[in-house]
Amino acid sequence: MPEKIVLAYSGGLDTTVAVKWLIEERGFDVLALTIDLGSQPDLAPIRQRALTAGASRAYVLDARRPFIERFCWPALRAGALYQGQYPLATALGRPLIAQLLVEVATREGATWIAHGSTGKGNDQVRFDVATAALAPHLKVLAPLRDGMSMTREQEIAYARAKNLPIDIKPESPYSVDENLWGRSIEAGVLEDALLTPPEDAFRWTSSVDNAPASPLLLELDFEKGIPIALDSGSKYGMELVAELNRIGGLHGAGRIDMIEDRFVGIKSREVYEAPAAIVLHAAHRALEELVLDGEAARFKTSVAQEYARLVYQGKWFTSHRRNLDAYVLSTQEKVTGRVRIKLHKGTAQVVGRSSSYSLYRPKLATYSAGDQFDHQAAVGFIKLVGLPVRTQAEVQGIAEIEPLLEDDRHVVEVGPGSLEGGLAEPVLRAAVPGIVDSNLRR
Ligand code: ARG
Repeated sequence: MPEKIVLAYSGGLDTTVAVKWLIEERGFDVLALTIDLGSQPDLAPIRQRALTAGASRAYVLDARRPFIERFCWPALRAGALYQGQYPLATALGRPLIAQLLVEVATREGATWIAHGSTGKGNDQVRFDVATAALAPHLKVLAPLRDGMSMTREQEIAYARAKNLPIDIKPESPYSVDENLWGRSIEAGVLEDALLTPPEDAFRWTSSVDNAPASPLLLELDFEKGIPIALDSGSKYGMELVAELNRIGGLHGAGRIDMIEDRFVGIKSREVYEAPAAIVLHAAHRALEELVLDGEAARFKTSVAQEYARLVYQGKWFTSHRRNLDAYVLSTQEKVTGRVRIKLHKGTAQVVGRSSSYSLYRPKLATYSAGDQFDHQAAVGFIKLVGLPVRTQAEVQGIAEIEPLLEDDRHVVEVGPGSLEGGLAEPVLRAAVPGIVDSNLRR
């Protein structure tokens, strides 16, 4: 009996050829698994294509809801943006796909799983490491990396020779992966890091030129760090994300263009569109600013970095991630409230926020009447904050500086007068920005 292998099947050329190749060249019984994470595939024809290509069974699963609720929400609560920018759409999708590959393999008694990653990217790491964590007994094969080395032309020729059901569209100028949390675009002309991404790279977002001239104001309600309403509507979870992708995309929000440090050591130019993720991260951050105490807010930014790195590197199913999740979750207890966002010409700007847990107190912050801040307390406070600095200056010498006033290149004479502090004439009018007129008198 041939061994069973469960292949993550997208319906594209690579994985369709892989079905046949795994059967004929490696002698497997191939089971195809297609997962919808929101890239709107037409699932029925994909399933049929897998079967026609030779798969003995073809599963198609809609995993959009668990993707948003179990993978994207934790990343949002954590504030996870890789290199401070990438909301990790592809990186969050991979562990879910790996988990389903393992679950189907277990149910089917398969001993192998397979995926369509190449040997150059992060995705192979994510699939392989996730599988190791969930089912270390399973063996993993990535045909494009592990032996099925064919160019696109060879794949097309192979598919024709074997009568595989492919519809050959003109080759996409880019390599694209998309799900509800974002669309990743790479390769082709984008490999020129100086080149402005051509408009045909974008599918979800308007260019600044094409975005509506008038701004749109949005209100997002959060409960414990999770968005629960958009404009007080009843959309929730994946529907809310889909709607926000639509509206944000219309206004051109959520385009990202970056040089990314891949886990495999390569720098690569990556372009993303992720309107919902970018808007939600901005809104969530704004709410945290309001309700988290300063210490927690500061510490959480390092947790966010760690979390993002971990997700990016394919370490979702680790105790480290669970430990960070526990911390993050405990910070979200009071992250409940409302944030106003203005979408306009490619920007998503926070313009207001409120929460019943707000730590912002106008009577302490105000510069107007009703100020309850104790100004005199500041004097003692500063005395103690400055104490070690003063001590060090007295004992070990004053701070090292490069003088600004003594450098003749930086000053010009402007006539008689004297410095407020009593310097001799003529008054030197400093040409250095920042130390000019307010310190000098004519
Ligand atoms: N660079 C991104 C990441 O590592 C996106 C990868 C996109 N994958 C693809 N097959 N185009 O998460």
